[in-house]
Amino acid sequence: MCAAPSPLLALREITKTFPGVVANDRVTFDVRPGEIHALLGENGAGKTTLMNIIYGILQPDAGEIIVRGQMTRVRSPADAIAAGIGMVPQHFLLVRRHTVAENIALALPTLPFLFPGRRAEGRIREVGTHYGLAVDPRAAVWQLSVSEQQRVEILKALLRGAQILILDEPTSVLTPQEVIFLSNVLRQMKADGHAVIFITHKLDEVFATVSPFCARDVSSAPSISPPQTSGRWPG
Ligand SMILES: Nc1ncnc2c1ncn2[C@@H]1O[C@H](COP(=O)(O)OP(=O)(O)OP(=O)(O)O)[C@@H](O)[C@H]1O
Ligand SMILES: [Mg+2]
Repeated sequence: MCAAPSPLLALREITKTFPGVVANDRVTFDVRPGEIHALLGENGAGKTTLMNIIYGILQPDAGEIIVRGQMTRVRSPADAIAAGIGMVPQHFLLVRRHTVAENIALALPTLPFLFPGRRAEGRIREVGTHYGLAVDPRAAVWQLSVSEQQRVEILKALLRGAQILILDEPTSVLTPQEVIFLSNVLRQMKADGHAVIFITHKLDEVFATVSPFCARDVSSAPSISPPQTSGRWPG
């Protein structure tokens, strides 16, 4: 049997308390290349808190984040992006009157100052074709469906170099057909060795492509270790 690859991301005993509530209690888990983890839990279980800690929006009270074997302080989303961590939030952070390319260019500080949107178009088309994330780079965001806006957020994270991608409740805004579409995108990421963590609180939306599988109330789980249950990915 082959040895499992080293984790891209490891959480060790992550704990976060808000006044009157322990949102995350010593959460420990590993995410390896080519794994898709579903983080399941009821409302208020601490899922978003945990993902916000990984993405540097919140700081843990205790615990360690280890990225590619290195202990990493993720003090901000900029630190997370530099470490190859991307997040697709539940509520998208796009400028509605700007085009897709302009939105993505704004997130890519390495693009040239002049006409950054136009220069981003080629990369958007290339990465979009590879992952099946079809979206017109010249369309204004306000013209796009919610599903298309989600694709823009995924493309943005990938073009920023995310190898570890967090999606917060990605299916809650999608039709069943769009969920199948997203599942194919995640399969391609898996094939490319990315690591994906997606949050859901709906058991019937848990997908067969999920690798080792996390399904715990993270507020009460001292650790999360796969497999906890099995699930089906539509299609
Ligand atoms: N900024 C905050 N200040 C105080 N309490 C918070 C804060 N953020 C989260 N909480 C509390 O921490 C707990 C976990 O919240 P969190 O949003 O992480 O849960 P969740 O699993 O994402 O829930 P949902 O499925 O509803 O999105 C809840 O009791 C919530 O009220
Ligand atoms: Mg949440």
